Amino acid sequence: MWNKVQETVKFLQDKGFSIPDYGIVLGSGLGSLVDVIDVACKIPYKDIPNFKVSTVAGHSGYLYFGTISGKKVVVQQGRFHYYEGWSMQEVTFPIRVMKFLGANNLIVSNASGGVNKDFSIGDIMLITDHINFMPEHPLRGQNEERFGLRFVDMHDTYDKTMLVKMEQVAKHQNVQLQKGIYLGLSGPTFETPAEYKMVKILGADAVGMSTVPEVIVAKHMNMNCLGLSVITDLGIEGEVVAVSHEEVQKAAKASEKVLTKLVVAFLKA
Ligand code: HPA
Repeated sequence: MWNKVQETVKFLQDKGFSIPDYGIVLGSGLGSLVDVIDVACKIPYKDIPNFKVSTVAGHSGYLYFGTISGKKVVVQQGRFHYYEGWSMQEVTFPIRVMKFLGANNLIVSNASGGVNKDFSIGDIMLITDHINFMPEHPLRGQNEERFGLRFVDMHDTYDKTMLVKMEQVAKHQNVQLQKGIYLGLSGPTFETPAEYKMVKILGADAVGMSTVPEVIVAKHMNMNCLGLSVITDLGIEGEVVAVSHEEVQKAAKASEKVLTKLVVAFLKA
């Protein structure tokens, strides 16, 4: 893994990727952020050594390097999900690469199902913490000390300073934010009503199929993380209705403008 990361980093540096201030993973709801990048380089995943190719509709596969609001960014447009069949190491490989390009900060976005009765479809939730319910752990196996410690502290996983800054930015932009805990399940099924209830009982506010592995690996390498989740459907007891990928995409798309505006303003601030 170490050698693969170094090989990919070297490849990207040779293509013009320099030291980013931020790594950004664009999940559902933040796709249009690519429109505001002052792009220096853009490379399809299929041309990047050791990268996989995303198999999910709505998740394209390009790595960008450029500038947003004066900050240098490396942006993953399209992520790898565990349910696609990738190993956790493959899912989180781009995060390792971002770190070794020089990024010490990470912004991740996703779509999720809300289980908090105060949430509505289209809400943006600042992730304050997560619960890892994925069936495999990305740090399982022999630890590579050059990446980080064997036993990783997770008590300040979502960086407080970034969180407070984003809250200030949202207030300034007149955007109402929700805050809450994200629980990661493998998918690809959406939850049964009983499972949404379980998610709530376990103490989470939203549930989704990504983000947790990437953030764990980022913390392994001591990166500061900010997580944003678009609530695309609700799993509230007694009110659970059918949900489809198309509806999730549609709801995520509807919040894209606001989320993009927030991230642009955050980077500026
Ligand atoms: N469950 C899991 N993942 C999701 C959901 C959901 O309800 N909505 C969007 N991603």
